[in-house]
Amino acid sequence: MGLLEKAQQIKQDVFEKTRDSEISILKEMPKEIKSKKGVHPKIKIEKELQKDLLDERKGFGWKGLGSRRIAFDSSINEYKYEVSEPVLDEGELKTKNELVRLFKMLANINVFDIEKEEKKKYLEETLNQIVTDNDFKFKAGSKDKIFYHIFRDFIGYGRIDILMGDEGIEDISCDGHHVPIFIYHKKYDAISTNVHFQDGDELDSFVVRLSQISGKQISIYSPIVDGKLPDGSRLQTTLAKTVTKGSTFTIRRFRENPLTPVDLINFGSMSVDMAAYFWMAIENGASILFCGGTASGKTSALNALSLFIPASHKIVSIEDTREVSLPHKNWIAGTTRQGFSSDESKTGKDIDMFDLIRAALRQRPRVVIVGEVRGKEAYSLFQAMATGHTSYATVHASTIHTLIQRLENPPISLPRALLTSLDIIVFQNAIDICGKTARRMTSVTEVIKLDPDTNQLIFMEPFTWISKTDDRFESTGTSKILNNIKLQNDWTDEQLKRELDNRKLMLEWMRKKSIGNYKDVGKIIADYHKYSDVLLKKAKEEMKK
Ligand SMILES: Nc1ncnc2c1ncn2[C@@H]1O[C@H](COP(=O)(O)OP(=O)(O)OP(=O)(O)O)[C@@H](O)[C@H]1O
Ligand SMILES: [Mg+2]
Repeated sequence: MGLLEKAQQIKQDVFEKTRDSEISILKEMPKEIKSKKGVHPKIKIEKELQKDLLDERKGFGWKGLGSRRIAFDSSINEYKYEVSEPVLDEGELKTKNELVRLFKMLANINVFDIEKEEKKKYLEETLNQIVTDNDFKFKAGSKDKIFYHIFRDFIGYGRIDILMGDEGIEDISCDGHHVPIFIYHKKYDAISTNVHFQDGDELDSFVVRLSQISGKQISIYSPIVDGKLPDGSRLQTTLAKTVTKGSTFTIRRFRENPLTPVDLINFGSMSVDMAAYFWMAIENGASILFCGGTASGKTSALNALSLFIPASHKIVSIEDTREVSLPHKNWIAGTTRQGFSSDESKTGKDIDMFDLIRAALRQRPRVVIVGEVRGKEAYSLFQAMATGHTSYATVHASTIHTLIQRLENPPISLPRALLTSLDIIVFQNAIDICGKTARRMTSVTEVIKLDPDTNQLIFMEPFTWISKTDDRFESTGTSKILNNIKLQNDWTDEQLKRELDNRKLMLEWMRKKSIGNYKDVGKIIADYHKYSDVLLKKAKEEMKK
């Protein structure tokens, strides 16, 4: 085989293998190929193998020694998330273990009671004290490397600390110690990382620690934990050799700044027309149910559209884990309480959705928000709607038929007539468009009435999403809700249109000004309620520029 053929053969092999084996193949290449001038296969191969660096961020952890990069590996056609942290040599590892041992003898940090900054200060002071008292000696740079790991493990999230500090990440999931941790990145979708747990024991202890941080206990007796981490992220974890073979965990990261209607328009999840429609409908007390599959964006849509709730309305929200964030001041946020019983049966100290809704209704709210309806609380929620409380909730259902089936059958068992107190049903979907996940409000359906003869519900669909190839929304131009608003205000069609156009203008103006924070968007919506003329004038002038 000639040199060139040999190189081509190697190149062929290389494409079929992963990065690690690629390197070893390159090492095995004959020297002539590597060095001979004028023959470029090696250069070519290296170039093709090189991962295209797309995004790099430094400065994670102690003294900013950690970093991460996202690269596109063209040989396997995949994005890869690579965490890079200081590596400890054997001596450093020994010193670290000794420091940790002495620290544990001296003190322990109570993870629940003190702020992270305080914990950091306390840990640093104590470690320095141990170093001085025991006369530890370090090589240049070693101390910081060791401290990096101690801080990461004690007050951070251990191996996943950098992942938890990267706000581009939506989900982190670990399916076992033998596979890498996968993340869901806002920009790059589902990608694998170079982070993994060394063995089952390490992962088991990590899962136990995560559960403790969220204030719960995981054990063989109670092997599934649903909790909330201190930063608001949602945790779901299972313990090895129980419901899953190895331990697993999934973390849904909390968004500090929740999505707003402006974001939903910018992402193409809804149109400006739809946003203006929701603005008017919500302002006028329409109740909405957000439906869709897992992670389709139901809660985010509920949160975003809740910004249209008039600022003065009293809101009570009820959730299992706190996800909804609103700028409203007159708002009571309730979460269910579990964990006092050791089995599935409810004890007197557990407080579920049903208890919270009953309590909520006694608090005289104008608006009731329920994170996710699953059981008998749906009955109370629909009764609340029927008695004039505006309600927003999410339900896991992907079509109108499955929704009605879920609502009418146990454990919810809602009489069909009560469904008519609902005004709008929004369907959210996560759709793969050109290889990327996009969230779309695929349909906005109004509940018109229950036909007394056929006992069938009658719906109207003011907005629908067309299709993947024609990614846009279509409006049928008919809406019972808008019609009712028109009648209530004694408007003509033109007046209604003008109102909608004004809101569209305000939304376009917010987009143009890149107003992204939910508090700012909330403030503009609240101000519009009071001084629409002033704001419209300003928006009109600025849109002309
Ligand atoms: N319109 C959107 N555009 C882009 N990303 C979105 C959109 N809506 C939601 N997301 C992101 O998708 C993820 C899932 O969103 P969300 O929690 O709202 O979904 P969900 O349907 O309520 O999920 P679950 O079924 O777990 O309750 C979040 O990380 C969120 O930031
Ligand atoms: Mg949700």
